[in-house]
Amino acid sequence: MDSDDNASTLFLPDEAATLALGAALAQALVRESAQGLIIFLEGDLGAGKTTLVRGLLRALGYAGTVKSPTYTLVELYAVSGLNLYHFDFYRFDQAEEFLDAGLDEYFQGAGNCLVEWPEKAGVYLPPADLHLRLSVAADGRRAGLRYGSEKGRQCLTNWISCIVSIPGATPSSSPPPR
Ligand SMILES: Nc1ncnc2c1ncn2[C@@H]1O[C@H](COP(=O)(O)OP(=O)(O)OP(=O)(O)O)[C@@H](O)[C@H]1O
Ligand SMILES: [Mg+2]
Repeated sequence: MDSDDNASTLFLPDEAATLALGAALAQALVRESAQGLIIFLEGDLGAGKTTLVRGLLRALGYAGTVKSPTYTLVELYAVSGLNLYHFDFYRFDQAEEFLDAGLDEYFQGAGNCLVEWPEKAGVYLPPADLHLRLSVAADGRRAGLRYGSEKGRQCLTNWISCIVSIPGATPSSSPPPR
């Protein structure tokens, strides 16, 4: 992992590494009994955002299907003492649809919000405590992690301390040479 003041990047060589990054986040959330965290999952179509949430939920012991919320807008989970709300706003044509759907209430409570395509909800979305940006790099993905609040800083510190065990993940802003 490469880190500066508030930006850590790592290379995820395959899907298993993305799942493991999600599992590491699960560990961090459990460790601090996280409540009300807002986590933006940023990156293009197919970047691996839903895969990361799948890894997170699996690690928490959720055995069911982890569906992409592309059509439902939100999927709700209560697992290992945590409330998790997984959103995907890709299909919004206008940011106002966020308010029309009454989704703002989810962001005011104790549940932890994981948001794909946050930019589609524009100004109506509260600021994120944590940002994860995924981008395609060679055959894998590059992950960039940063915090947006004090609560997020603490969680990121925890998350990073749980990442050491990701097989094949290398600290870099570029994929390793083949
Ligand atoms: N580190 C990785 N290396 C290679 N492939 C990966 C990696 N992580 C995830 N993938 C693959 O990327 C594909 C797309 O993943 P996913 O559906 O999670 O993307 P997404 O960011 O949620 O896309 P969308 O914006 O369409 O919802 C899946 O086939 C998954 O296996
Ligand atoms: Mg997705």
